[in-house]
Amino acid sequence: MQTTQPSIPLNNGMAMPALGLGVFLTPPAQTAGAVSTALRTGYRLIDTAAAYLNERAVGEGIRASGVARDELFITTKLWPGQYGYDEALRGCDASLTRLGLDYLDLYLLHWPVPTDFANTVQAYRAIEKLRADGRIRAIGVCNFLPHHLQRLREETGLVPAVNQIELNPFYTQPETRAMHAQLGIVTQSWAPIGGTYVRNPKAVTNGADTPLKHPLVLQFAEKYGKTPAQIVIRWHLDHGFSAIPKSVRAERIVENWGVFDFSLTLEEITRMDVLDTGVRAGGDPEAFTANSYPTDVNAQ
Ligand SMILES: NC(=O)c1ccc[n+]([C@@H]2O[C@H](COP(=O)([O-])OP(=O)(O)OC[C@H]3O[C@@H](n4cnc5c(N)ncnc54)[C@H](OP(=O)(O)O)[C@@H]3O)[C@@H](O)[C@H]2O)c1
Repeated sequence: MQTTQPSIPLNNGMAMPALGLGVFLTPPAQTAGAVSTALRTGYRLIDTAAAYLNERAVGEGIRASGVARDELFITTKLWPGQYGYDEALRGCDASLTRLGLDYLDLYLLHWPVPTDFANTVQAYRAIEKLRADGRIRAIGVCNFLPHHLQRLREETGLVPAVNQIELNPFYTQPETRAMHAQLGIVTQSWAPIGGTYVRNPKAVTNGADTPLKHPLVLQFAEKYGKTPAQIVIRWHLDHGFSAIPKSVRAERIVENWGVFDFSLTLEEITRMDVLDTGVRAGGDPEAFTANSYPTDVNAQ
C-alpha cells in the first residue's frame, strides 16, 4: 500500500495532506492514542478544535508519535464564543499552548455567526494578523455558505484557503463547492463517512441509514475488495476533496488509511453523487449563533 499520501495545493502556495484524522467527540483519554496511532500509520494531518476539549491530548499524541513537527499538518479551530479581534488573538494563543506548538498549519473559524457577522469578520482579521506574524501558516473557515464567503471577501478582500463543510454522499453541497471552485478554496469534508447519521438517527437519508450501508457502496466495496468506509473516503479523494474521518479505534484508523491503491471510475463517482439528499444532517450555519452549542473552551 502507498504510504505517502496525496496532497492538495492551497491558494497560498502551501500543500495540505488530502486525508487526515478528525477528533471531534474523541474523549481526551483516547485522543493521544488515536493521534499517535494515526501518525505512526502515515497520517500527517490532524483536525481538532478548541471546542473539542482535547487539544492537550492531541499535543501528547503528536509528541508520543516521534514524527518531526515540519512533517505534520495540524489544524485547530476558533470557537464563535471567542470571536472578535482581541478574543481571537487570545483564543489562538490558548490553543497553541494546549497543543504545545509554536505555530499552526491551518486555523479555522469554526462557524459563521450570521446574526453578528461583523464579529466573525473581526475574528478573521485577527487570524490574518497571526498569519502575517508567522503563528499560522494558512487560514480557513468552516460551514460558510456561498454568501458568507462572498461577504467575507467583500469586507476583507481575503479568500480563505479552506472551507471545511459537512459533506458525504448523502449531502454533497454542490452550490458551496461551485463557489469554492470559483474562488480557489479547497473543500474539506467533515462527517466524510457519515458520522452525522450515527449521531442523528432522524436525519434524512437515501436508501440506507448511513452511506456506509448503502447498497451501491457495498457493491463497490465488493468489486474492489475494500470496506464501505474505504469506498466513501475514496469518493472524496477522487473528487479532489480533503477528508478527515474520525475514529477512536486503531483498526479503523488503519482501515481508513487504506485507500491509496485504487480509485473509483468516473461513472462510479457519478453514481455515488446522485445519492445526495440535499438535506444536511448536522448543524445549520444560517441558524448558528454564539450560543448554539454552549461550550466553555477556557475551562480545559
Ligand atoms: N468544522 C465542523 O463544524 C466539524 C463538525 C463535525 C466534525 N468535524 C471534523 O470532521 C471530523 C470527522 O467528522 P465526524 O467525526 O463528524 O464523522 P465521520 O468521520 O464521518 O464518522 C465518524 C463515525 O464513524 C465511525 N467510523 C470511523 N471509521 C469507521 C470505519 N472504518 N467503519 C465504520 N465506522 C467507522 C466512528 O466510530 P469510532 O470512533 O467508534 O470508530 C464514528 O462513529 C471530526 O472528527 C472533526 O475533526 C468538523
